[in-house]
Amino acid sequence: MPDNSGPTGSPHRPTILVTGATGNLGREVAGRLSAHGARVKRLVRGLGDQRGQRSGRPGAERVVGDLTAPAAMRAALRGVDAVFLIWPLLDSAPARALVAELAAAAPRVVYLSSTAIDDEAVRQSDPIVQVHADMEALLGDAGLRPLVLRSDTLASNARGWAPQLRAGDVVSGPDIARTAVVDERDVADAAVAVLLGHRGRLGHGPYLLTGPEILTRADQVALLGTALGRRLRFRAVAADLARSRMLADGRPERLVEALVAASLHRPASSRTTDHVERLTGRPAGTFARWAADHAAEFGGARG
Ligand SMILES: NC(=O)c1ccc[n+]([C@@H]2O[C@H](COP(=O)([O-])OP(=O)(O)OC[C@H]3O[C@@H](n4cnc5c(N)ncnc54)[C@H](OP(=O)(O)O)[C@@H]3O)[C@@H](O)[C@H]2O)c1
Repeated sequence: MPDNSGPTGSPHRPTILVTGATGNLGREVAGRLSAHGARVKRLVRGLGDQRGQRSGRPGAERVVGDLTAPAAMRAALRGVDAVFLIWPLLDSAPARALVAELAAAAPRVVYLSSTAIDDEAVRQSDPIVQVHADMEALLGDAGLRPLVLRSDTLASNARGWAPQLRAGDVVSGPDIARTAVVDERDVADAAVAVLLGHRGRLGHGPYLLTGPEILTRADQVALLGTALGRRLRFRAVAADLARSRMLADGRPERLVEALVAASLHRPASSRTTDHVERLTGRPAGTFARWAADHAAEFGGARG
């Protein structure tokens, strides 16, 4: 275990900045860190965000800032021992200023990346994966020695199906490659383990965080149906139709193009690993468990 004592031998409560703290993953990370007694700074973009206070956890402070605003990030990084870093943008160029601030503040950095990175490739298969590869390189080149957690598809992405499931029993969308869908709570537990050094001396990664089984979208929708007591079906739509629907929903064109490219180019092979268990001490949960635990968000189980 790392030495967590302060200069006088008193226990040191680490201060950890959690980026993306309003998101599916970041809020799980922030909640767990607070529960472990860490001082948590939750980075939020707007003063309007009240979700940290609603959790009522002591030791969680809300800091307002944007990952692309260096002065705000400099202030957010003050006094921070470690950072849980996500980069949700479609372009890595604005990250250069953030990386410079990180290099100056020199906290430990845990970066949430993607299992879709191909370490052998010169260019990655789609723009979103390329951004993660660029981020890993930027952080490494700055001498930050980030601990990289590469995540497979988060189970929480299924929340995006809720509007369709309120209207009927069919989920339609692009039929992206089979992936080892991972419960975001397992990713959060793994992130907390490395942020707090609970797993003792670890290799420097990257860790590949996956669920225990490889699933198609149709598999996921069927498992969600089992949890809800409904016969749900997945209907694949062609990339062009998916594109026009997402644009009609008002999604930004650049995001739409990145998502369509991801659906077309993601490698067909996916694999499971035991890295969640290595980091958390217990095996990764199934998507069936996630679906049962989140049934209420989809209108609850019938029958
Ligand atoms: N989803 C996956 O399958 C997957 C797989 C591998 C890796 N990842 C990585 O994991 C990250 C987190 O996933 P998630 O599902 O938790 O995402 P999410 O629910 O969409 O949350 C994104 C978070 O990023 C914040 N954010 C967006 N732009 C920002 C900016 N310019 N400055 C500061 N904060 C900003 C959002 O804040 P607001 O509330 O203000 O919008 C939100 O808190 C993704 O961004 C991606 O990089 C995801």
